Amino acid sequence: MGLPWLGETMDFYRAQQANRLFEDFVRPRIARHGKIFKTRLMGSPTVIVSGAEANRFFLSNEFKLVMSSWPSSSVRLMGKNSIMEKHGEQHRHVHGLIASSLGSSSAESLVPKLSKLVQRHLDAHWSGQERIYLYNFTKNLTFHIVFECLLGIDVELGMKEIFERILEGVFAPPVTVPGTRFSRAMRARKEIERMLVRIVRKKKEEMERKNSGGGGGGSEEGGVVLLPRYVAAMLRGEMSEEEVIDNIVLLVFAAYDTTSFAIAMTFRMLAHHPNCYQLLLKEHMDVKSRKGEGEDISGEDIKKMSYTWKVARESIRLFPPIFGSFRKAIVDIEYEGFTIPKGWKVLWTTYGTHYDPEHFQDPMSFNPDRFEEAMPPYVYVPFGGGPRVCAGSQLTRMNILVLVHHVVTRYDWSLIHPDEPITVDPLPFPVHGMPMRISPK
Ligand code: HEM
Repeated sequence: MGLPWLGETMDFYRAQQANRLFEDFVRPRIARHGKIFKTRLMGSPTVIVSGAEANRFFLSNEFKLVMSSWPSSSVRLMGKNSIMEKHGEQHRHVHGLIASSLGSSSAESLVPKLSKLVQRHLDAHWSGQERIYLYNFTKNLTFHIVFECLLGIDVELGMKEIFERILEGVFAPPVTVPGTRFSRAMRARKEIERMLVRIVRKKKEEMERKNSGGGGGGSEEGGVVLLPRYVAAMLRGEMSEEEVIDNIVLLVFAAYDTTSFAIAMTFRMLAHHPNCYQLLLKEHMDVKSRKGEGEDISGEDIKKMSYTWKVARESIRLFPPIFGSFRKAIVDIEYEGFTIPKGWKVLWTTYGTHYDPEHFQDPMSFNPDRFEEAMPPYVYVPFGGGPRVCAGSQLTRMNILVLVHHVVTRYDWSLIHPDEPITVDPLPFPVHGMPMRISPK
């Protein structure tokens, strides 16, 4: 358990910062103690578990045996009404709203809009350039995708910078003394709240006007777009204004660094594996060759990008954007002959199965074809599992496939630092922002 209070926190942070949390912290302890062991992190006694069975047990028993557990700074910055703090029926309602906007067929219907947005961003930021920074570019793009495609909100001047200040404080110590990361983030949170309140109220007025003019319930407005659906839920009395605002902030947090890192690592793997790149390129050139002059890709075309999705999934297996996440035992839990006392934390990890030769033969090698075979549940878990499974995995898929399509069909590219170091703060990212040489085809 390490030192009193501090436990093994310093070792944990050091390994995390070098993006070697699994290799330097978890794996040596698994070798000593087995796949379930205890430690103390940031004052909390914590059990770290690895393996598909542990993933299944802890992820599927959310609300029954465990509850997700976020640092208090994250909760205060996302807001206490966001999905991360909802349990039981209330959680199911908000998760259902997001997931039904983003199920696989709904997400496919976003493709035309997504494709236009991606092309607009490539025209604005890549045209005439010889060097771009892929990671930074995808962060900006993801921000616009979440707001414009998913939520149906126009990005206003300064909005992204305000959000970045919020996200910087999400895992910082919750110290409100002026000048700290957390207090800057709290100020930014208030700023964005003011902007979002104005936007949500305007939408509400619009929808109320339509309803009183006989325009119907409003819930169908915008199809899969989330803001009208949130506001319709508000009008039906199922969601408060605070819930809407907090869940908008949460979605940006959930999507921003994760998607950008997944895209960056997909390109890194393509740069390292030219044979895979040739196969992927052919897939996209085939899609393009079937299109008429100026005709854009559709949801149907996405289904023809199966090799690209295997490449992306394999890249995400090797470089999961989320290391794992914390749960808190809400009762004493009997597991594998041990008792985990109520109140203790449990940390499950993606690496515990992704790097295990029992599940992935030669796990450190890059082999997209391994995804041809069906995978047992709770083995491939970059998006988690159980009731809190990621609500945005389909949007992530569309985002990656559409971006890869337009990049590889329009540009030749190469990485300036093919082995650019990755650091973690608190999510992983390439330290130089992934500079890339590009030239139009
Ligand atoms: C590569 C990209 C992504 C990865 C790796 C990822 C990963 C995850 C993981 C592991 C969880 C579960 C956390 C837990 O169990 O504690 C999660 C939850 C969630 N994700 Fe994602 N995510 C990604 C992209 C997105 C996007 C694009 C969105 C939406 C725009 C999104 C929305 C959410 C939401 C709302 C939850 C909370 C679900 C709940 O608590 O019920 N994610 N994500």
